[in-house]
Amino acid sequence: MAEEGFSTKAIHTAAYHTVFHGDPLSYPIFQTSSFGFESLEELDAFYEEPGSGFAYSRAGNPTVNAFESVMAHLEGAEAACAFASGMGAISATILSFLKSGDHMIVTRDLYGGTYSLVTKIAPQFGVTCSLIDMTDLTAIEAAIRPETKLIWGETVSNPTTVVLDIPSIAKLAHAHGLVFGVDATFTTPYLSLPIAQGADLSVHSATKYISGHGDVIGGVVSGPQKLLEKIHFMMTTLGSNMQPLEAYLLLRGLKTLEIRMDRQAENALKTALALQNHPNVERVYYPGLPSHPQYALSQALLRNSGGFLSFTVQGGLVAARQVVNNLRMVKRSASLGDAHSLASLPIMTSHRLLSPAARAEAGVTDNMVRAPIGLENSEDIIADYVQALDRLGN
Ligand SMILES: Cc1ncc(COP(=O)(O)O)c(C=O)c1O
Repeated sequence: MAEEGFSTKAIHTAAYHTVFHGDPLSYPIFQTSSFGFESLEELDAFYEEPGSGFAYSRAGNPTVNAFESVMAHLEGAEAACAFASGMGAISATILSFLKSGDHMIVTRDLYGGTYSLVTKIAPQFGVTCSLIDMTDLTAIEAAIRPETKLIWGETVSNPTTVVLDIPSIAKLAHAHGLVFGVDATFTTPYLSLPIAQGADLSVHSATKYISGHGDVIGGVVSGPQKLLEKIHFMMTTLGSNMQPLEAYLLLRGLKTLEIRMDRQAENALKTALALQNHPNVERVYYPGLPSHPQYALSQALLRNSGGFLSFTVQGGLVAARQVVNNLRMVKRSASLGDAHSLASLPIMTSHRLLSPAARAEAGVTDNMVRAPIGLENSEDIIADYVQALDRLGN
């Protein structure tokens, strides 16, 4: 039989793990902290073989496990581990592979929370990092030292939409025996399969497109069983596990991920083209535009170009603030991957904690607007941005 399509897998996989006869089509929420055993012998047997059942929800819960199983299946990975947030997933993953004296190489186009982790928290434990332009393979190789253990990138970066050349970086990482982790939040397993392209670990803020409705905070990591065992141990020890209600909502989100991502990408491309033609727009950043510096790479690696774009406004920070304040339908908000179209200024949100020099290095300018595109009708999104730009200076 031919391999099942993305949505078929997303909708049907959790049912394989139900514990009931009668097969509920929506996976139940096991809202319990603990699980009882028939005898102490059974309890003892569980602790001898922890994956064999459930004892305590910080270490494992059936609803969370169902979400993890579907994610592993969609990612083509042996295992997955779900977290209370994307940052929970990223912190536990990075900390699992580094000890005092180690070094990591991370993309300079890094999400703000990960930037704080690697530049502020990791050094407290004697771990250092180099922030590198990941489009430059020679620079990555030159940054590798004997104590380097990990390379970390993002499939599509926020907000400059730099596309990660996963196959080339994976070859480099593995030639030097390094673990290569990828934050795939912007692409989801529908647009990109980092593990099939050579990465060791694929990490998501499930808060974004996987939830899709702006009502969950969650994170998930997928990869080989051997690496996931370390990450799971870190997760249970730090106590950054996902809750059952969130897992239920994310299982629901996965069922519509394909159709949402297709619609959001279609809306984003139309909006990017309209913005590109507006006289008050300086530059549009969207991997689906032929003018994007990595257009060919994005076409080769991504199923579509996703729902996220950003643009710079003529007239600097004052003009960019005015455009975002002029928006009538699009909400001023820091997140992405919601059904709503959202807008913010990266210098006030995702990149607020970075120094001006670090922001400049990441290519984040004062006049940059971050514009995650939602599921509304594209004509309404475009009309809102056009009126906001037309009213500039008035
Ligand atoms: C690329 C990326 N990674 C990680 C995170 C952190 O996720 P969370 O807010 O779920 O902790 C975000 C949040 O915006 C993000 O955009």
